[in-house]
Amino acid sequence: MATTITITGAGGQIGYALLFRIAAGDMLGPDEHVRLRLLEIPQGLRAAEGAALELQDGAFELLDDVEVTDDAEVGFDGANLALLVGARPRGPGMERGDLLAANGGIFGPQGRAIAAAAASDIRVTVVGNPANTNALIASSSADGVPAERFTALTRLDENRARAQLAQTLGAPVTLVRRVPIWGNHSATQFPDISHATIDGAPVAERLEAAVGDVRAWQEQTFIPRVAKRGAEIIEVRGSSSVASAASATIDHVRDWVHGSDDWTSAGVVSRGEYGVPEGLISSFPVRSSGGAWQIVEGLELDGWARARIDASVAELVDERETVRSLGLI
Ligand code: NAD
Ligand code: LMR
Repeated sequence: MATTITITGAGGQIGYALLFRIAAGDMLGPDEHVRLRLLEIPQGLRAAEGAALELQDGAFELLDDVEVTDDAEVGFDGANLALLVGARPRGPGMERGDLLAANGGIFGPQGRAIAAAAASDIRVTVVGNPANTNALIASSSADGVPAERFTALTRLDENRARAQLAQTLGAPVTLVRRVPIWGNHSATQFPDISHATIDGAPVAERLEAAVGDVRAWQEQTFIPRVAKRGAEIIEVRGSSSVASAASATIDHVRDWVHGSDDWTSAGVVSRGEYGVPEGLISSFPVRSSGGAWQIVEGLELDGWARARIDASVAELVDERETVRSLGLI
């Protein structure tokens, strides 16, 4: 049995960076065959068709089938995994709030099509920005699909945070763990190093030796660097992150399906954990086992961390109010 994976926006930049890695087995492993459904809007169909030709030319052993469509019900038919990438990317000078109305209209119809056509085990990862609120819109529109099956990508933020911390400590990134992202995939996010480990030991002493005042370093260097990395990439590249976003998407889905070996981060529905209002899709420290994410509970948060989480969650509440007032949820 192959896994059916629907990728929206498959003719775009991230789509192009994702498809070949999925076909090569990087996401689901070397034993899992895949069927790819590339869902586009009419303007994007030719690019998706071109990618499908190249997928054929790759002669990937695990790739059973590729279908290109602009019909959402065809695109999500029987899907086990959906990667909702198709959206309008942020350009120079734009904030995510500007994108809410533009992208909100995409995710309601897609949520409905998922409910109507996808397999009963469907799991959805929203990459298109504003990812948390787009996931909320899709989930609200997908009657009968549990809210736990809708997630927003914040793994890219976590990968960025781990990489920055590793560089500061002069250590390989694989040794740096437990750097969760809280809140929104936006400049308000809180990358949290208070539980971070290096090679299994707390980072505190080594970090102090490297930077001196750890709190000042977090406020002035680390948090802005991570939280504004998306904007930095846009400024330097001239367009938003692509390969790193695709790679983080693969990390997220692989861990969701096969389990995580430690904490990681994902935007998942809140059931009130850590005081985050119920129903919001917010990033938390999570673990995955048995094909489901669980929020890591019971972590101590000092007042400083609490205030940062509250600020990002307040932004999510505002976004929810905006899409409610637009009739999108
Ligand atoms: P892109 O413009 O290259 O591609 C987007 C594609 O989506 C286009 O081909 C477009 O035709 C298609 N599309 C638009 N509306 C669609 C719809 N209703 N159905 C299906 N396809 C549709 O953009 P990109 O660089 O691939 O980025 C895609 C999204 O990912 C953007 O919103 C970007 O901001 C976001 N992003 C998120 C993260 C994250 O960490 N969550 C990171 C990077 C980028
Ligand atoms: C990113 O984090 O790179 C993307 O979400 C692009 C953006 O708009 O920041």
